[in-house]
Amino acid sequence: MQDLGGAAAVIPAATLVTHHADTEWPFRQDSDFWYLTGFDEPDAVALLLPHRPEGERFVLFVNPREPAAEVWTGRRWGCEGAVESFGADIAHPRSELEQRLPDYLNGAEGIAFRVGRHPAIEPLVVAAWAGQLDRASRTGSAALALLAPCSLLHRMRLRKEPAELERLREAGRISAAAHELARSVVKPGMRERQVQALIEEHFLDQGARGVAYGSIVAGGDNACVLHYIENNAVLQDGDLLLIDAGCSLPDYYNGDITRTFPVNGRFSGEQRELYSLVLAAQQSAIDSVRPGQTAEGVHDTAVRVLVEGLVSLGLLQGDVDGLIEQGAYRHLYMHRTGHWLGLDVHDVGAYRLGEHHVELEPGMVLTVEPGLYVSDRLPVPEGQPSIDERWKGIGIRIEDDVAVRKLDEVPEGHEVLSANALKSVQAMER
Ligand code: GLY
Ligand code: MN
Ligand code: MN
Repeated sequence: MQDLGGAAAVIPAATLVTHHADTEWPFRQDSDFWYLTGFDEPDAVALLLPHRPEGERFVLFVNPREPAAEVWTGRRWGCEGAVESFGADIAHPRSELEQRLPDYLNGAEGIAFRVGRHPAIEPLVVAAWAGQLDRASRTGSAALALLAPCSLLHRMRLRKEPAELERLREAGRISAAAHELARSVVKPGMRERQVQALIEEHFLDQGARGVAYGSIVAGGDNACVLHYIENNAVLQDGDLLLIDAGCSLPDYYNGDITRTFPVNGRFSGEQRELYSLVLAAQQSAIDSVRPGQTAEGVHDTAVRVLVEGLVSLGLLQGDVDGLIEQGAYRHLYMHRTGHWLGLDVHDVGAYRLGEHHVELEPGMVLTVEPGLYVSDRLPVPEGQPSIDERWKGIGIRIEDDVAVRKLDEVPEGHEVLSANALKSVQAMER
């Protein structure tokens, strides 16, 4: 409310989305709306009105109580619940938004509303603003501009409060335990999907809402498809298994963990070489996380370790700095080393502002997830060695969730929220 200055904000909830015919996908609240309200129903709209008197500044429009509808789709909080349980100053039925919005927006210096995202609400906001502009010659005032609320909101969401960090710890704990469980049961002949079922059962059993994203359970060469979610192959003796899975809690905080281990419990020589290299890159990158570092710096740290290792294994040739500068490693490592993590798995918040890279601060949470993917899918860059068959079909990623902490705290500089999922070479073997 303070950050808005004299502007009013219109923040819509998510709506239900059709799966097929008259069946809908499970409801997933809009993360911005959730962050501000904690209200988990579709079709609501929150107004933040700093230009109004105290007691009229937080208005919720919600689906009203309606026994005939609630019998089918479940309990609603209604207008009364929105005030009593969610702290709204005033609540109205959603059907009154069109009629009431212009009055509420009157006197605001600007209107903070994300255009292009909310097709049912956008025409109402534009009409209310247009009405103000039409009347401005008589009333002498109208909102000056439509602003994007994203920069304000996403700056807040990027810096997690202690209670949010505790929820991300819980998401990390449940997700990590599922990975440990999966590794203890995998054996050749199982289907990827059976492993997925065990992991997702654990999420639900431990109180999660479900998965944070489609679980990736990728045996052998399938791991070289970064977003492989078919999960329908049989796990082969001698292959690695890459599992990228995390839970989403009932309040939407997410885990995002990847582990890779041998299906039969023993790495081959080539698998062990590459696994050790990815692990070293990931450990160096995690060690570099502290206030003042940047996401770019974390990525660069991982890339340097990977490229040095690939040169010594003969998978790249040439001067390390030159290879990094040209990106001559990208047929083997083609993604970034991490992203912000929070209510969204790829959470909001800028990584850079123009040329300036955003410096890590205590309370920010990011993943650290280097990998190597050796296959024929991408061409080998000119001047680089062709890939010997013995390396092909090896896809490895190791991903942890890392909270930035103060340097004078223990643990110093960062905390690995997913540390309960083991990752040493020894732990991956049995
Ligand atoms: N599973 C998505 C990611 O790791 O970014
Ligand atoms: Mn990730
Ligand atoms: Mn992941």
